[in-house]
Amino acid sequence: MNIPNHIGIIMDGNGRYARMRGLPRSAGHGIGVKALRRTVTACYELGVKTLTLYAFSTENRKRPKEEVAQIMRLLLKFLRNYKDELKGRDIRIEPMGDITALPASIQAEISHVSGATAHNNRLIVYVALNYGGRAEIARAARNIAQAAVDGELAPADVDERLFSQFLYGDENRDVDLIIRTSGELRLSNFLLWQGAYSEFWVTKKKFPEFNKRLLKKAIKAYNKRDRRKGGLNAE
Ligand code: IPE
Ligand code: IPE
Ligand code: MG
Repeated sequence: MNIPNHIGIIMDGNGRYARMRGLPRSAGHGIGVKALRRTVTACYELGVKTLTLYAFSTENRKRPKEEVAQIMRLLLKFLRNYKDELKGRDIRIEPMGDITALPASIQAEISHVSGATAHNNRLIVYVALNYGGRAEIARAARNIAQAAVDGELAPADVDERLFSQFLYGDENRDVDLIIRTSGELRLSNFLLWQGAYSEFWVTKKKFPEFNKRLLKKAIKAYNKRDRRKGGLNAE
């Protein structure tokens, strides 16, 4: 099985998972964190190199204050409980998104964890937090404009390669496979640039139900895709 280099996961459906069981939405987020942990481990075991997890979008800030606060608390707990294991396992954690707008405790824990795991490189996990694909592209454009004003580059230098260097994370972060749980057939502002030629795999299962078996199923489906990227493959 050919393992995609970079997998992105839209971890959706926590609220519906809970509601279907007569529980409050918050219970779904709590169980979702367990799935998050399982997912990171499964990717590590399967040899995925880069994993981008969509944890909180720029639009998720529109949700009720208590729900946003609960998601932040859970993330904090997740990072605290899990950091030693991540470190020991050669997994690097990197935030992706405007974390400056998040509570100070989260910002501190994120920089702590990303610092502590900075030298790990078997699996890099980007946690998309207060992330939006449009915000990421606008930020890149802003920084490029500033660099031009500062005389560091000329407008004619701006091509796809240069532009992508101004996005979050390491260069060449094209995502090979985007997985979305809970059945929705949309991107919801995830990896707009990096997903230009991604393959999609959607499951009706809600994120709290996600596991290694489903991940393998997604990768198996991915292996059957004919990735032409606009060209023609041999017949
Ligand atoms: C995904 O589950 C988690 C976040 C967006 C933070 P949802 O909270 O979107 O759950 P549904 O989609 O309402 O079921
Ligand atoms: C996408 O899920 C964001 C995350 C999983 C973090 P949403 O639940 O916010 O997306 P929509 O509202 O269904 O498009
Ligand atoms: Mg949702």
